[in-house]
Amino acid sequence: MVHMSSEEETSRTSSSPSSPSSSSSLPTLHFIGKKEDIVRARRVTKLVNGCREVLVLYHQGQLYAMDTRCYHSGGDLQDGDIEEFNGRLCIVCPWHKYKITLAEGEGLYQAVENPTVKPLRTHWCSKGVKQRIHKVTENNGDVYVMLNDSIDPIESDIYQTEKYRTACFKVQPKVKSKKL
Ligand code: FES
Repeated sequence: MVHMSSEEETSRTSSSPSSPSSSSSLPTLHFIGKKEDIVRARRVTKLVNGCREVLVLYHQGQLYAMDTRCYHSGGDLQDGDIEEFNGRLCIVCPWHKYKITLAEGEGLYQAVENPTVKPLRTHWCSKGVKQRIHKVTENNGDVYVMLNDSIDPIESDIYQTEKYRTACFKVQPKVKSKKL
């Protein structure tokens, strides 16, 4: 797991000739790092745009990006396992084991079909989108994130406030993080 500094993001974004950030009419792409470094690290966190802590994951040849803090109670998803449930890849929050689909940010759970019938039979259900997912793009070996700026609130937003992040970092310093 690697944490990249916002200073690096700023310089690489502004100097990248392929970055559309110079045009106000195009969405801003935020530089995350070199793909080879992300593939090697598997997981990278970065404070994007000075306001949003984003987790970028590399899994089975694909890159994914989402809010770092779990929508349920702020668990650090960079420490979660990736598993498949009902044919969908999910990150499993290390705190209370909630399952979040990598591609959509949906919360998945197992519903009991009829609690009076033993043995219990269950099936997978979706709680809907709970975790804000961001778009990842790659250009010439550089990986960028475009923040999902949908105005519809998503539950993981609560853990992206300055107030929460300040409190969180004070309680849980990122001792394991390092720069590339
Ligand atoms: S904080 Fe993620 S499952 Fe509770």
